[in-house]
Amino acid sequence: MCGIVGAVAGRQVQNILLEGLKRLEYRGYDSAGMSILAEEGGLSRQRALGKVAELDKKLQQAPLRGRAGIAHTRWATHGRPSEENAHPHQSGDRLAVVHNGIIENFESLRRELEGQGYTFLSETDTEVVAHLLAREYEQSRDLLQALQRAVARLEGAYALAVAHAAQPDRIVGARKGSPLIVGVGIEEAFLASDPLALLQVTDRFVYLREGDVVQLSDGGVIEVFDDAGQPIERGIEVFEHGDNAISRGNYRHFMLKEIHEQAAVIAKTLEGRLGDGHVMTHIFGSGSGSLMTDVRHIQIVACGTSYHAGMVARYWIEKLAGIPTQVEVASEYRYRDGVVPDNTLFVTLSQSGETADTLAALRHAQSHGGYLASLAICNVPGSSMVRESDLSLMTHAGPEIGVASTKAFTTQLVSLLLLTLALRYARNGDDEMQARLVGALRQLPQLINQGLALDGDIERLSSAFAEKHHALFLGRGTMFPIALEGALKLKEISYIHAEAYPAGELKHGPLALVDSDMPVIAVAPNDELVEKLKSNLQEVRARGGELFVFAEENVAISEGDGVHVLRLPAVDEVIAPLLFTLPLQLLSYHVAVLKGTDVDQPRNLAKSVTVE
Ligand code: G6P
Repeated sequence: MCGIVGAVAGRQVQNILLEGLKRLEYRGYDSAGMSILAEEGGLSRQRALGKVAELDKKLQQAPLRGRAGIAHTRWATHGRPSEENAHPHQSGDRLAVVHNGIIENFESLRRELEGQGYTFLSETDTEVVAHLLAREYEQSRDLLQALQRAVARLEGAYALAVAHAAQPDRIVGARKGSPLIVGVGIEEAFLASDPLALLQVTDRFVYLREGDVVQLSDGGVIEVFDDAGQPIERGIEVFEHGDNAISRGNYRHFMLKEIHEQAAVIAKTLEGRLGDGHVMTHIFGSGSGSLMTDVRHIQIVACGTSYHAGMVARYWIEKLAGIPTQVEVASEYRYRDGVVPDNTLFVTLSQSGETADTLAALRHAQSHGGYLASLAICNVPGSSMVRESDLSLMTHAGPEIGVASTKAFTTQLVSLLLLTLALRYARNGDDEMQARLVGALRQLPQLINQGLALDGDIERLSSAFAEKHHALFLGRGTMFPIALEGALKLKEISYIHAEAYPAGELKHGPLALVDSDMPVIAVAPNDELVEKLKSNLQEVRARGGELFVFAEENVAISEGDGVHVLRLPAVDEVIAPLLFTLPLQLLSYHVAVLKGTDVDQPRNLAKSVTVE
């Protein structure tokens, strides 16, 4: 994945592009670059290894002047991070292209183009696009036509933005499999991988569809063409989150800000969705009310943190709605010929709505048929997954900038509990259990704030982890996926190797790893498995393992030699996964701060993975 920005404006665009790149850094940050069309003709380029700040330094030394240009922040797929591999890539010194995605047939195209005398200067797949465009441009002398002809040769995924010195009043773009939106200004127009990149210049956007090609020219003229090359109108949508959603405020890191936003965003996720003692069943889109009654099976597909949310949902849906549920990571599901039972609801979970594997899994499910309907539970309205699904439910977490997902996860959990209860209501009508859980959901924002009050205690605890190389997380039932999520957070941002196990599985292998150098973190709500969990913790203690237990206030586990206990408020056992996620988020955050890692942009990762 990578981030793309482009602009054709009535003013200098360097700083608009630079600000856009800074806002897109969550998509990749190993190198960055920019090409600008000079008003007096010609194309100038600047590229730098490292984060956008490095490019910024170079541009301060040698600014690029011009009113149209393209820019890119990279997450390496083909070719290591280096200045040569950074985008924009050029063909000669007059055509430049930036690309997000993977060109799967780049090797054959490269051979073809090399055979025709084109010289390659990088290890990237993108450079073939530059030469292909240059070759087509030679034929048509029109950049738009050249792009339309070039994309017809590309296999794989791309969002592209292209500039040519011979047409300094325009840029062109195209998307297939990777996101690209148009920002609509007053007599100016912009391209970007997502709206956040452009909120400093506009709040009006055109969401391009698969296969669209677009030309932006002087005076803010926007022309969109569909995959058959026909001009097409795409509506303008107003972005409603506002720009301050993407500032860090007084917090040291976005991740910490986003952890502390959870009570407020969960309240938004619930807004307008709870009826009197039950969840409203039409909240997933038109026709969803009656559809909920027909569902007999559920298939959930997701990646990363979203996958962990799906795992929690499986426990909930089977227990509370009695519907058999399967959960699978999207990268596996998409290549499997699974058996689809009758009346299966296909659910994708995704913060971004653009994750390549999850999107491909959705398309795989749609093309193989057999599903009753598809439902996207997603944080980004207008994203590919939302548009391509029959039904959708927005999680309303607001923009999440930290690469390690926090508020997106807990709002997904809330949304999945809404789904669970809607399915239960469609079967049972009103009942006492639902009324109790709807009441508990209403209290949830307050409970989350109580959980977050542990911040200081967890910060003190974190020093016990900073020097460790490994950690083991344990949970049972719905707490097993929460333990997995805790381990993932610690890995992602503090680079400590962490594993999670269902506590009952400890004796079948991981116990061999336990010694005084292996901190063991356990999550212990007061549920039906708590006594069994306590026995598992004894097994750890007996082998010299140091225990860190996050326990509900009424669970009888006492502090002692090698046993640290932090108390969380009493909570309904169904809601517990939401509350117990918080200390694990805070723990990974404070350990990472102590270790001095790049909390919001950990090494080698990116927030939105739009490549396979
Ligand atoms: C990346 C991010 C994770 C995220 C996963 C799925 O790996 O770093 O934080 O959970 O993608 O992303 P999605 O947008 O589909 O939820």
